[in-house]
Order: sequence, then C-alpha cells, then structure tokens
Amino acid sequence: MPITLQDFPADFVFGAATAAYQIEGTAAGGAGPSHWDTFAATPGNVIRAEDGAVACDHYHRWPEDLDLVQAAGLKAYRFSTSWPRVMPDGVTVNPEGLDFYDRLVDGMLARGLAPYQTLYHWDLPSALADKGGWANRDTALRFADYAAVITDRIGDRVASIATINEPWCVAWLSHFLGIHAPGLRDIRAAARAMHHILLAHGLAVQRLREMDTRAPLGIVLNFEHATPATDSAADRAAAARQDAIYNRWFIEGITRQSYPDLALAGLAPYLPDGWQSDMAIIGQPLDWLGVNYYTRTLHRHASDHAWPATATVTGPLEKTDMGWEIYPEGLTYFLTRLHRDYVGNLPMYVTENGMAAADQMIAGAVDDPARTDFLFAHLAATRDAMAEGANVKGFFYWSLLDNYEWAAGYEKRFGLVHVDYPSQKRTPKASYHALAAMLAPETAK
Ligand code: NOJ
Repeated sequence: MPITLQDFPADFVFGAATAAYQIEGTAAGGAGPSHWDTFAATPGNVIRAEDGAVACDHYHRWPEDLDLVQAAGLKAYRFSTSWPRVMPDGVTVNPEGLDFYDRLVDGMLARGLAPYQTLYHWDLPSALADKGGWANRDTALRFADYAAVITDRIGDRVASIATINEPWCVAWLSHFLGIHAPGLRDIRAAARAMHHILLAHGLAVQRLREMDTRAPLGIVLNFEHATPATDSAADRAAAARQDAIYNRWFIEGITRQSYPDLALAGLAPYLPDGWQSDMAIIGQPLDWLGVNYYTRTLHRHASDHAWPATATVTGPLEKTDMGWEIYPEGLTYFLTRLHRDYVGNLPMYVTENGMAAADQMIAGAVDDPARTDFLFAHLAATRDAMAEGANVKGFFYWSLLDNYEWAAGYEKRFGLVHVDYPSQKRTPKASYHALAAMLAPETAK
C-alpha cells in the first residue's frame, strides 16, 4: 500500500532539515573560524579539501530556500544556528550573526513554517577548539552561554529547540574514529567528549529553563542498527558493544543518568574524574526526542583490535551513494525500542532521514526515483512504529538542498532540491514533486 497523508494524524509535522555549516557559507556575515574550516584545510580529511566557505550561499539566498520549503507544502523547517557566526571567538557576540537568525526566523514565520532550531550542528569555534574543544569541560559551560545568547534573541519565535545534533558523531566519529573534525583517534579525548557533549546538553537545558524559554527543549540523537555479521557468539557480542557505544550511551545518560556497562568497560578509565556527579545535570527532563536514522551496519569481532574490538563488514542490502544499506525496518525498530525502553510517551520526531544518490541533471530536470522510494518506505516505517504505540509527532527529510556532506565534500547529494554549485541554481528534483503531491493530493496535477 503506498503511503498517503491519511496515514498520519492531522497534526503530524512534515518538514525538511539543513544545518548552518553545510549551507550558509561561512565567508559572509562576520562568522569566526570553526574547527571544520581547519579540518578541511588539512590534506586528506575532506574530498578535494572542500569547505563551507560558500556552500549553498544560503546566507544570501535564504528567501528563495524558504520559498522552496513552503512550496513543497511542508509546514516546518529544521535549521541550525552557528555558534561561530553568533560568537566568532566562542564568547564575544557578533551582532550581524544575531541579525541574520532574526531575519531567518521571521522569514519562516512569514511563510507559515514552524522554526525547529538546533543549537549545535558541529561547527565549534576555533578559539574553543584551541583549548581542547569537547575534550575540555569548559566548552560545555561556554555552550550554555551561547545557548542563552541566541535564545535571548530568537527564543520567543522558534517552535522547538534541540541542544546537540548527533552527539555520537560529535564525540566518537570525531575523536575516536578520526573521520570528522577535529579528526582525533584518541580514546581519552573520545571518552571525555562522550561525556562533555552530554554535559553541554544538560547545562544548556538548565539555562534555557531558567530563562523560561517557551519553546519545547530536546536533543537529536542518531541511531544505527548494529547487526551481528554472523550468528556467532563473538559477533553478537561485538554488535552489542557497538550498540552500547552508539545507540545506548546518550539515551541512557539522559533518561537513566547512567552509562551502559558494555561501554564503560572500555571508557571508564578515560572519563574525567567525578563524572558521576554530572549525571543529574545530564538527566534534565526533556520535552521531546529527535531521532536521526539512516542505515544499519554489520559488525564482527576483531580479535586483533583493542577494545571495543569490532570491525564493520559490507552488508548484502541495496546501498545508497554513501554505501549505506537501505533498511527501513530499522527505523520502526528504533522508534518502538525508544518508546518501550526509554521515553514512553514523550513526543518523538524523526529529525533526519534521507539518502544520497548520484543524481544527474538531464534537460533541466533531476529524476531520482530511488529517493522517492526511500522516503516513502521510511514514512511507512514511521507509520508502522506509530501503530505499535510510538508517539511520533513529525518527520523531517534530510536534506532540503544538496549541500556540504562533511568529509565527503559536495560530492554526495542528499537534497530534495538540486544545487548547481557554480551558478547556485536550485532545481527541485522529482522526489520534491512526489513529496509535494503526497502532502497536497487534491492540488497535484
Ligand atoms: C546526519 C547529520 O546530522 C547531517 O549533518 C548529515 O549531512 C547527514 N547525517 C547525512 O550524512
């Protein structure tokens, strides 16, 4: 059965998502340097050493981009505010940066779009990176100050605030696997980042509550189905370790004020002294939970590796242009697992889901049937989880636009809208039109 609008409650929120560094263009508007600029400028980290200096030039083209969100029939737009744009050295305010987000939020409201803000989507001011970044506890305190500054300016108009986007990527992918900025492969820095990013979240929630912020407060976690490569006990144990580090650490920190033993087994020696006394801050009650979901990964026991002694194996399923297996069942799995084991009836949003494809512009059009199939299959997976009781309130496609895909540069395209970077021309893809037709079946031609 194809998915239709009638499969969702009338108040279900459909939106599209982006993030500041990936679209805005950091060269404009007095933004300070971030650790992504220097990571990209260091050979070998990013394909063709591409960076976010221009990106989609959204800093100047935001009216056109918001028009595209509105014309799709979407009612919400998930965006991030950039810490180095608001505070170029991490602490001093840039009035131009605040003015930009003021205009942007007003632009959303003028188009009937609910602004879903994320405070941290990976662009850490270089001045704070210089002092150790997320390995340094002080960064968490500075983050709460930034949260207060931007909320003081736009918090009266945003519909929702998320503190951190994908803490696993901020901490593990960036400090243990070395794939994102700052590109470390250091278990001590990784353990500290795993803890400090949650401390930053908790301190920001506390601060925003003290300010009587009216927007509901949440966090966006990412989940990846950790599948054992074989049925052997060793591979099943490896997948369980992966699940603990990736899928359990953050949600258990927040909802249980504890970390899973399977992860502490390797990380406890490297956590900062006295970490246990931060857990009450980390466990601040949330108003909602954001769930980002893309894929599953297969894990085997790697006896020649240090803890966590896991290695990934290529799976058999059809893959996106990122090489990620397409596995919509995993989204149903996580939404129902979160509902059952962690959050009960707390509202959940699918804050990101989408795919990269090798899109081709032919005669002025981009036909991307695989993306439409992917989107509708994951909407169906969301509906299935709701039928099982998960309290899912909305779904945001990643991404509105083709944009800077971090270490993959501009090569990987996730957008509903194609971006021709040399001309900055936007062209809605077939998937954009398919989504618009689903959202407004009566007006579709
Ligand atoms: C998750 C991240 O939040 C986003 O920045 C990224 O582009 C997408 N996944 C796709 O990898």
